Amino acid sequence: MSASDSAVSDVPVITVDGPGGSGKGTITTRLANHLGWHFLDSGALYRLTALAVMKNQVPLEDENSLGEVAANLDIRFDTSGSDVISWLDGENVSDSLRFEETGVLASKIAVIAVVRSALTERQRRFRQPPGLVADGRDMGTVIFPDAKLKIFLTASAQIRAERRYKQLKEKGESVNLARLFREIQARDLRDQSRSVAPLRPAEDAVIIDSTGLSIDEVFNKIVSLI
Ligand code: DC
Repeated sequence: MSASDSAVSDVPVITVDGPGGSGKGTITTRLANHLGWHFLDSGALYRLTALAVMKNQVPLEDENSLGEVAANLDIRFDTSGSDVISWLDGENVSDSLRFEETGVLASKIAVIAVVRSALTERQRRFRQPPGLVADGRDMGTVIFPDAKLKIFLTASAQIRAERRYKQLKEKGESVNLARLFREIQARDLRDQSRSVAPLRPAEDAVIIDSTGLSIDEVFNKIVSLI
């Protein structure tokens, strides 16, 4: 292990894993602001890969090319106030990144081992002083197994569908609640049953069910654990 490796492993990490719509994104951003730490939205990396795959029209069966797309992503994140602007090949893709179809494709390519390994180092590079709050599916199990605090945030599929419905509606997307519910269930199943880095709590994770909790209550619960 080099001196810089040990310096990096000294940087504290808090991981927040869980299914889509559990409130991870909001909680991670709030925690990072509260602590003055960096944050990693690992789902955004899978979504950016999905957009690059669509743009390059790579078929889902061509795993090697999918891995190459993930390894060669030209991406950047900027913050503008409380918003994050995401760039792919110099183009602002912040809106299309959040489309439901982008999330569905991200979940499909996330089952592919070469795609996951191409994104592993990129995710670990976010570990910078004074600390990192990392949001995803495998942050505590695979990417940062030595994290100081691991949270697994979950909520019923029904409530997650309702939250997502509200979010998308506010953004002006035309959405159907029943369809969203089915898509969330299908995505959960795909994320949980894949053979590489399936969505599951780390053995040392604290599980928080946000079904009946407000964001403030979840936030305060996590702060009390830090
Ligand atoms: O959190 P999200 O909805 O932005 O993630 C989109 C998809 O990316 C999700 O369905 C599965 C995949 N993903 C993953 O496999 N591992 C992560 N650490 C983050 C996201």
